[in-house]
Amino acid sequence: MRAKPAKLPFVRGESKSAPIPSGLEERLIAFRRDLHRHPELSSLENRTSSALVRELESLSPSRVQRVAGTGVVVRIAGRRASAPSVAIRGDIDALPIHEATGLPFASENPGVMHACGHDVHATWTVGAAVLLAAQPADGDVVIVLQPAEETGEGALAVLESGALDGVSAIFGGHVDRRFVVGQVVAQAGPIAASADNFDIELLGRGAHGARPHESADPIVGMAALITSLQTIVSRSVNPALPAVVTVGVVSAGTAPNVIPDRATVRGTLRATDDATRALLQAEVRNITEHVAAAHKLEARVTIGSGVPPVINSEEAAGWAREAATATLGPDAVVPLGAANMAAEDFAWYLQKIPGCFLRFGARRAGEAVIPAHSPNFDVAEDAILVGARVLAECARRASAALSKGGAAA
Ligand code: NI
Repeated sequence: MRAKPAKLPFVRGESKSAPIPSGLEERLIAFRRDLHRHPELSSLENRTSSALVRELESLSPSRVQRVAGTGVVVRIAGRRASAPSVAIRGDIDALPIHEATGLPFASENPGVMHACGHDVHATWTVGAAVLLAAQPADGDVVIVLQPAEETGEGALAVLESGALDGVSAIFGGHVDRRFVVGQVVAQAGPIAASADNFDIELLGRGAHGARPHESADPIVGMAALITSLQTIVSRSVNPALPAVVTVGVVSAGTAPNVIPDRATVRGTLRATDDATRALLQAEVRNITEHVAAAHKLEARVTIGSGVPPVINSEEAAGWAREAATATLGPDAVVPLGAANMAAEDFAWYLQKIPGCFLRFGARRAGEAVIPAHSPNFDVAEDAILVGARVLAECARRASAALSKGGAAA
C-alpha cells in the first residue's frame, strides 16, 4: 500500500460552519479506491451505479433514484421545505485508456481507466451528501451522480429525466493537477470550451495514379483544405479570443497507384464564447466550399452541435468563492489563468440553471503536473474531502442566499 496521505493543516478544524463526521475521509478514500479499481466506460457504469446507490441509501433510503440509465440522484432534505433547492453534480465514467500508474488500487479492467478523476468527483459528491445530511442547507440539495460525461451525453439525459426540475442553482467541479490541493478556481464567465466535431467528405473523380489529368484528386484537395482550415484561428478569429481548429482524422485511398474518388477529414472546434463558436463553424463551411471548388471536388460538411462552453454565473461564482474561502482559508481561490479549451458537459446544466463549475487543485506541492487523460494520471486524495466540503458549502450558501430572495444571475 502507498503511504497514507499526509493531512494538510487546513483540511480539518478551520471551518466555522461544518463539522466533519469522524472517519469520513478514510471512508471516502476507500470508496474512491474501489471505484478506481473498477472503472467503467460511459453509459456502462453499472457496478459504479450500484456502489453509489448502496452508499447513498445509508443517508436517505427512500430518496435515492436511478436516472438516465446508470445515473443516481438523491435528495438531501433541507431545513425548510419551502426554501429553494440547489444541486451538486459529480460525473462517474472512465476512459478507454490502459492504466500505467502502478498504484495498488490500479484498474482491474484492462483498457479502461479513471484517467480524468471522475472516481474522485463521484466520491466527493457522495462526501458532500454526507456533510449536507449532517448539516443541512436551507432548502433541499439534489445530489446528481451523472453517467457518460466523456461522451457528452449524460448531462442532457439527466436534464431530460426531470431530476433537476425546480432547482435554482447547480454546482460541480473537476480535479486539476495544475493546481495544488487546497487551491480552488471559482470564477464567473467561461471555465471550459465548446466542442463541436466536424466531418468533411470530399468527392472527386478517381483515376490511374499515372494519369492525374483524368482525375479530380480528393487527396490533393484534402491537403490544401487541412492547411487552409488552420487559417481560421490565425486569420479570422480575434487573436485575443481563444479558439481551436484541430483535424484529428484523415482518410483516403487504397493503393499507391490509384487516385481515389473520395477523402474524409474529421476534427474538432473549440471556443469559449458563442460568437467565436459560430464563426468557426461558418468558416469551416466557407473554406471547405471554396477549396473544394478550386480542386473540382464536391464537398459535404457535417458539423455536430456539441457541448456549449461552460459559463459560470456571477452570483453562483460569488457563492462558490465564499464557500472556498470559508472552508479553506483566504488564499484558497486562485485564477484559472490561461483559458481551458477542454469541454465539459456540465455546460448543458448551465444553459438551464445558473451555477458554477469549480476546478480543484489535485496535486501535492512538488509533484509533477500529469495531465488528465494520461495513463499515468492520479489525484492527491486530500482533494476528495476538500471537494466534498467546498461543494457542500456552495450548496448551503446558495440556498441561504436564494432563501433570502437573491436570484442567481
Ligand atoms: Ni473529466
